[in-house]
Amino acid sequence: MENNLGKVPFVDLSWQNNPLLSEIDSAMRDVVRRGDFILGAEVREFEESFAQACGVRYGMGVGSGTDAIALGLRACGILPEDEVLVPANTFIATVIGVILAGAKPVLVDCDINTALIDLELAQKAVTKKTKAIVPVHLYGQMVCPNQLKNFAQNNNLIIFEDAAQAHLAQREGKNAGSIGLASGFSFYPSKNLGAFGNGGMVVTDNPEIAQKVRSFRNYGAPKKYYHQDYGTNSRLNTLQGAVLKIKLPYLETWNNWRNQAAKKYDHYLQPLAEYGVTPIKNMTQKGHIYHLYVINVKPQGSHNRDYIQKELAQLGIETGIHYPIPCHLQPAYSFLGYRRGDFPNSEKLCSNILSLPMYPGIEDSQLQLVVDNLFKIVGK
Ligand SMILES: Cc1ncc(COP(=O)(O)O)c(C=O)c1O
Repeated sequence: MENNLGKVPFVDLSWQNNPLLSEIDSAMRDVVRRGDFILGAEVREFEESFAQACGVRYGMGVGSGTDAIALGLRACGILPEDEVLVPANTFIATVIGVILAGAKPVLVDCDINTALIDLELAQKAVTKKTKAIVPVHLYGQMVCPNQLKNFAQNNNLIIFEDAAQAHLAQREGKNAGSIGLASGFSFYPSKNLGAFGNGGMVVTDNPEIAQKVRSFRNYGAPKKYYHQDYGTNSRLNTLQGAVLKIKLPYLETWNNWRNQAAKKYDHYLQPLAEYGVTPIKNMTQKGHIYHLYVINVKPQGSHNRDYIQKELAQLGIETGIHYPIPCHLQPAYSFLGYRRGDFPNSEKLCSNILSLPMYPGIEDSQLQLVVDNLFKIVGK
């Protein structure tokens, strides 16, 4: 469906939200009538069904994906002074989550083809203080589970997955959220499974970790007014639980639609390879859930990524950059002591990547319009 300007939006949420509006409206009215706005019945039901969809036993709804990482890491036993490996090429919330848990993020460069954390480089970053790795299943593609498990086992590290972009993603028969000791998800509205506001979840198979997260998210109180742990207030609200519970049964279909759109993009983009335009490599076939469809644009003279993005915008095609500045060069994190040049692949990707319009429901004609216009710009 084209929007009313005949242009291609980067994301169109109405496509998934509108058909469900009356069901969501009636579920929300139920919550309002009952008044159990925080961690109510729909949250508990959604926690159970989302954990089950991930292939684990426990799900704990929290206020955001960032909190899921922070509280989840603490529940896994990460302590202040511990070092935690994270990719330099991720959304900054991964780094923030580690810092909020009190630990020290140690950044690792990514593989230039997949944009995912490079585990050979991660090996070089391991010290006596390293306690965990937070692999990020970036753009909807999982980091290789077997390699990840071997790496963690060899170095005696905890795996905590940042699965904020990977709801129901799979690789080597494993679900995102099921390979780590625990994992964090985000339900930010534009995620593959999005709420009508902020939301997140920690999932795990471990009952003690589940209990810890339940306590941490609720002022550290396993029972009312008894504060056993140092906690915070980060609870999924019932209205969001109601929305997410209604959307969850559609997620697999929506992910399949994204995957089919991505296959078409792959096909249409083939002739652009000679102009230096190539998609980020998919190593997982069907298991990639394409939260984002990202291309790598090799600069050719003045035809660099920024130029291409501007030209596309003028033609009515919205694109994004995920992300324009790598974590180690963000001003707020200069205290970590990194410099330009420390993570060359991440730096290169940040200058060259472009995310094309992608959402379940994007039509073939729109995909073609995006690629035709891209072709006109780079082929000039
Ligand atoms: C990779 C990654 N990690 C963590 C987060 C944080 O999630 P939230 O925005 O719900 O705090 C996001 C989402 O924006 C993300 O993309």
